[in-house]
Amino acid sequence: MRISSLALGLLPALPQVLASPATYTAHNISVPIDHFHNETRYAPHTNNTFDLRYWFDASHYAPGGPVFIIAAGETNGEDRFPFLSQGIVTQLAEAYNGLGVILEHRYYGESYPFENLTVENFRFLSTEQALADYVYFAHNVVFPGLEDLDLTASKVPWIAYGGSYAGAMVAFLRKLYPETFLGAVSSSGVTAAIIDYWAYFEPIRNYGPAQCIDAIQTRTDLVDRLLIDKADNETLHAQLQASFGISKPINNTDFVNLLSEPLGSFQSRNWDPAVGSYEFRHYCDNITAAEPLYPPNNATALLPALLEAAGYNRTNATLLANLRNEIGYLNHTVASYIASSETSTNQSESHSSNLPKDSGTSWTYQVCTEWGYFMPGSTVPSSIRPLLSRLITLEYTANVCPETFNITTSPDVSRINKHGGLNFSYPRVAILGGIADPWRDATPHAEGLPGRVSTDAEPFLLIDVPAEDVWDGIRGGVHHWDQNGLSEEEIGEGQKPPRAVVKLQKEIVRFVGGWLEEWEGENVGRDGL
Ligand SMILES: *[C@@H]1O[C@H](CO)[C@@H](O)[C@H](O)[C@H]1NC(C)=O
Ligand SMILES: *[C@@H]1O[C@H](CO)[C@@H](O)[C@H](O)[C@H]1NC(C)=O
Ligand SMILES: *[C@@H]1O[C@H](CO)[C@@H](O)[C@H](O)[C@H]1NC(C)=O
Ligand SMILES: *[C@@H]1O[C@H](CO)[C@@H](O)[C@H](O)[C@H]1NC(C)=O
Ligand SMILES: *[C@@H]1O[C@H](CO)[C@@H](O)[C@H](O)[C@H]1NC(C)=O
Ligand SMILES: *[C@@H]1O[C@H](CO)[C@@H](O)[C@H](O)[C@H]1NC(C)=O
Ligand SMILES: *[C@@H]1O[C@H](CO)[C@@H](O)[C@H](O)[C@H]1NC(C)=O
Ligand SMILES: *[C@@H]1O[C@H](CO)[C@@H](O)[C@H](O)[C@H]1NC(C)=O
Ligand SMILES: *[C@@H]1O[C@H](CO)[C@@H](O)[C@H](O)[C@H]1NC(C)=O
Ligand SMILES: *[C@@H]1O[C@H](CO)[C@@H](O)[C@H](O)[C@H]1NC(C)=O
Ligand SMILES: *[C@@H]1O[C@H](CO)[C@@H](O)[C@H](O)[C@H]1NC(C)=O
Ligand SMILES: *[C@@H]1O[C@H](CO)[C@@H](O)[C@H](O)[C@H]1NC(C)=O
Repeated sequence: MRISSLALGLLPALPQVLASPATYTAHNISVPIDHFHNETRYAPHTNNTFDLRYWFDASHYAPGGPVFIIAAGETNGEDRFPFLSQGIVTQLAEAYNGLGVILEHRYYGESYPFENLTVENFRFLSTEQALADYVYFAHNVVFPGLEDLDLTASKVPWIAYGGSYAGAMVAFLRKLYPETFLGAVSSSGVTAAIIDYWAYFEPIRNYGPAQCIDAIQTRTDLVDRLLIDKADNETLHAQLQASFGISKPINNTDFVNLLSEPLGSFQSRNWDPAVGSYEFRHYCDNITAAEPLYPPNNATALLPALLEAAGYNRTNATLLANLRNEIGYLNHTVASYIASSETSTNQSESHSSNLPKDSGTSWTYQVCTEWGYFMPGSTVPSSIRPLLSRLITLEYTANVCPETFNITTSPDVSRINKHGGLNFSYPRVAILGGIADPWRDATPHAEGLPGRVSTDAEPFLLIDVPAEDVWDGIRGGVHHWDQNGLSEEEIGEGQKPPRAVVKLQKEIVRFVGGWLEEWEGENVGRDGL
């Protein structure tokens, strides 16, 4: 059976936005499929164009105002509506009479250059081509209804905003095209592409609830002692899987991969209950509960012997309760887990010529060609008690590349890291992050790097939200927590963002105001002002 690795689902899933209360009218701009006829990697070249989708909100706009463009990143652009209707860009547009815009990323949503997707016609999906789309857009767009105004980047200031992958994109946009983009706010921007990103789990380990993290580490250790230290004892492995409810044994690596699935919910946390998921809290509360939460399954009785075989105390009631509750939790929440306990059939290798037009496939292509971010357990330093089994190797997590695209070479991360990687910096690029963001170690806020002094030209700010200020009671700043805002309805109910988020958003509005003043100073007398 084929189970996709934990790694790849994560970036696109974020944030878990609900439908925005606002909807916007979609527009298209025709852009070249191939901006780089000089680069052989895109051969055979094409002069064709395709329709790139965008949306805008002119409700705060006044002539002379700036354009705030939200890079939609690796998802359908409609998923970013809340950032336009009630997020930080809304605050910026209000403060400076700006136009808020969302531009979809090529090969996502409805912005596909080809009717049918094959490995070959995926070749124009690269970060540099996508960046060039944004530049082309900034110089050529004519906003419907505002035709009498020239709002292109040569006439009015453009500021780019993005979170996560899109956060890296906007940072690169400013650095590569400083004449087009006056500034960029890079929120949790992953400026470093990293093939072996085991460090994804470090913020979870360091900032997750201590008792819960210890329970996960103990279970991981227990399982690894049985599957790795006793690698030859298949009877024991079958008993372990049976105790976890899998009656027909599956591949041990697939099995431990399933056990790690709930870790993905840490990143889906957000300070706004309408946006974030409470699931990590549920998971922790389940696996640390002292009382049984689920009826025993028919193999629970095997657990004491398994504990003993792993060198643990077979009568430790806490440990037994934790394990039984985790088994019950997995059985009730992880869909693929349930499926795997029912069937263990091998799907045949299907290299169908048409690939699905979905965000997961497109992001996986980017991962396999340029970005990496495979998340193994095997390479976690031995001084660390891992959250993920050491059976999960880099090769296992990267297997999706040959399977889906027949790509057998490593991603060429130099195409990304040439822009600066963890050392990325550039005037008028704000580097914002969250202290407990699993992506933190792929950003200039990575743990262990020397801190930087935050200035108005290069704001460098990390959100740290104390546990008591977050609805799930777990310390935050996770992934681009500065980008979303409350709906009118939530404000009406008296909800407020955590103080740390309010403070950062005020600060963003302030320093962007300074950048806009610099533009005024530099552009006095430019046409159209
Ligand atoms: C945008 O282009 C797509 C694909 O060519 C087309 O299906 C859609 O109708 C266009 N939308 C608008 C608003 O023009
Ligand atoms: C292709 O052109 C771009 C500028 O448009 C330049 O940055 C790049 O170095 C060129 N590549 C080659 C192989 O000449
Ligand atoms: C694109 O157009 C240019 C100029 O018309 C032409 O020289 C080139 O051969 C065309 N390329 C392709 C791939 O059609
Ligand atoms: C896309 O695929 C469908 C079904 O395989 C086929 O009928 C159609 O001709 C293809 N279109 C193009 C442009 O290749
Ligand atoms: C395998 O593990 C089982 C269960 O703990 C044990 O009874 C058996 O002796 C072990 N077999 C070998 C060959 O070590
Ligand atoms: C999973 O849930 C089903 C139905 O709730 C139950 O019959 C089964 O025993 C459970 N399995 C485990 C391993 O808990
Ligand atoms: C389990 O799957 C991994 C990765 O696909 C493979 O390396 C390993 O040999 C498999 N183990 C067994 C026992 O088939
Ligand atoms: C256990 O997890 C389930 C599924 O998320 C949740 O509904 C339930 O409330 C949790 N139980 C406890 C005691 O936290
Ligand atoms: C548990 O029940 C399943 C069927 O639901 C069965 O295949 C399996 O052998 C049972 N395991 C034990 C240890 O009795
Ligand atoms: C195992 O734990 C129990 C209490 O939970 C304790 O009484 C017993 O001494 C422990 N056994 C070992 C070998 O540590
Ligand atoms: C029982 O297990 C828990 C959780 O792993 C551990 O903290 C505790 O020290 C263990 N107690 C005994 C008596 O071994
Ligand atoms: C996979 O790529 C290799 C070359 O890298 C090629 O020889 C092989 O035919 C390809 N396989 C498929 C199924 O496309």
